[in-house]
Amino acid sequence: MYPVWQVPVMGSALVIAFIASFHILPSHLATSAFWFNVYVENKAYKENRPELLEFIKKYVLVLLIFSFIFGSLSGVGIWYALTVAAPKGISALIHNYVWGWAAEWVFFIIEVLAIYVYYYTFGRVDNKTHLTIGLIYAIGSWISMAIITGIMSFMLSPGKWLTTGAFFDGFFNPTYLPQLLMRTSFMFAVAGLYAIVVAGTLKRKEVASFIIRRASVWGMLGAVLTALFFRVYLWSLPAPARELYGMSILIPKIVPVIVVAAFAALLAWFMVVWLRPRWAKAVPGVLAILILLVGVFSAESIRERIRKPYVIGGYMYSNQIVPAGLPAKGIQGDLATIDSVGILHYSPFVPAGLRTIDTADLLKAGGEIAQIECSACHTLEPNGWLRPLPTMVRMAGLSSVDNAQAFIGFLDAFPFMPRFAGTAAEKKALAAYLVSLYRK
Ligand code: HEC
Repeated sequence: MYPVWQVPVMGSALVIAFIASFHILPSHLATSAFWFNVYVENKAYKENRPELLEFIKKYVLVLLIFSFIFGSLSGVGIWYALTVAAPKGISALIHNYVWGWAAEWVFFIIEVLAIYVYYYTFGRVDNKTHLTIGLIYAIGSWISMAIITGIMSFMLSPGKWLTTGAFFDGFFNPTYLPQLLMRTSFMFAVAGLYAIVVAGTLKRKEVASFIIRRASVWGMLGAVLTALFFRVYLWSLPAPARELYGMSILIPKIVPVIVVAAFAALLAWFMVVWLRPRWAKAVPGVLAILILLVGVFSAESIRERIRKPYVIGGYMYSNQIVPAGLPAKGIQGDLATIDSVGILHYSPFVPAGLRTIDTADLLKAGGEIAQIECSACHTLEPNGWLRPLPTMVRMAGLSSVDNAQAFIGFLDAFPFMPRFAGTAAEKKALAAYLVSLYRK
């Protein structure tokens, strides 16, 4: 076990959610933009329309600044935040997929080099070479996404890996292909959206109109295909995840509605500018990007919630406890040991006075247990942003210690919560702590 990263009020999970949702825009732009770019550049050379190059230079500059500054910063931010929020989860990912990450970084380096070479060789190399550099970027960045998607979908549905522990069994898991197709379609919608914003700032109106109409068609196709593959993705979910998707206590009905509404708004925006390219001004364009961000945040939050109670499906709980281990790789589960020696003893980062439950302050010990076992999904403050525990405790009516103990005893009767791990005395301490929250 590692120390718990305490983020007051907000909760560590939301820190990651915010960084990761933001990251989706620059990262999907980085993987998609060059497909549109190469398409337009090719047209410019083939049909001898050098005026189109004005757009390309601007578009690439936006990409360089937005994706390669904000995208890189937020990408590194995810690593840092995850490493402290879920150190054991990250460790498991690295131990299983170190060669996956290595391969991904190779393609990422190709991507970074290619975009600088592309940008600075404008007009300095022949057209064909320049187009090839663009294509190298486009393909390299898509491959890096295809690799990351393997590892991310593994966390939701590790499939046969749970019995074999083999690299490719986890990589090509049941939700891999639907997710890859969904993200590939989605990236075209993002490319279209940004192209429209950039084209709206062009001086030559006929160039702007041309780009906007083409970009909106890419956007419409991308958005429709994303919706389609989202459906396929839902079908491909393992049964427990599908069950969670249907539980309104976990995913309020409004969340999928927000996702659909955001996509409908996006689609409508593409249609509007297709009909009236002149309306593609900066303000509605940026607004469309913000709406997209809300939709993305909601969609990603669904993915996070249907993975509960796990951070790596079926293998590691969100609170970093590994219930059953992975015999194929000789990894033992934690539960049996924790139940016999106690979580306060098992976890090395507990203040000395709290280790032995008989002599410890009961409420403090209970609070420490809640910190270790519950705070990955519940903030402990009443005004917390993430399922604040005092509110939950009140909702469940845990007003007496007996009552609370019984509740803790069948925590895993809720399909989205891990079972309690610890000794009987620790259960009692946690119960006392929960009851103290009831009055807060
Ligand atoms: C893997 C994430 C996760 C962990 C860890 C977790 N919970 Fe929960 N808990 C949830 C979710 C999800 C809900 C459903 C409510 C919601 O989403 O708003 C919930 C609901 C609750 C409720 C309300 C139940 C009801 O009857 O409505 C209580 C009480 C609660 N949790 C207590 C705890 C305690 C105590 C711990 C630590 C021992 C804990 N939880 C650990 C995810 C978690």
